[in-house]
Amino acid sequence: MLNENLFFGFKIIFLMKVKDISMKKIIFGILACGTFAISCTPKSVPAAESETANAEKLAQGKTIFENSCNRCHELPDPTAHTSVEWVGIMNAMAPKAKLTDEQHQLVYNYVVSVKK
Ligand code: HEC
Repeated sequence: MLNENLFFGFKIIFLMKVKDISMKKIIFGILACGTFAISCTPKSVPAAESETANAEKLAQGKTIFENSCNRCHELPDPTAHTSVEWVGIMNAMAPKAKLTDEQHQLVYNYVVSVKK
């Protein structure tokens, strides 16, 4: 129990740094979770954490895209192709841009995330 609370505390500190969550929310979170830290944690905290991780991955994909995809031609418009088209384009372009499988995935996730 002590360990779980400690763990939960660290997560809050982590979230404060990364997302700048207002003090209100944190206090509310502590009150809401309280002694139910164990049952509450898997639902609320990791959801916020994975959102942060997602945003970071999209930002990484954007950076790779902007740095790797304008060497041979203008930087393509992500909204000019459908997500299905992007699968084929990325299969053709990732080797040209010498992307790793991970970078390929990050760039793909980024381009299809851009809203028209
Ligand atoms: C080594 C050079 C090179 C790099 C790097 C490169 N491309 Fe291309 N790209 C090309 C060439 C050549 C064409 C046109 C001929 C073709 O389709 O193969 C093209 C065409 C395209 C097209 C148009 C395809 C179509 O069907 O209209 C898109 C979109 C595109 N590239 C996206 C990208 C993206 C995204 C990246 C980064 C991951 C990238 N390219 C990196 C050489 C490159």
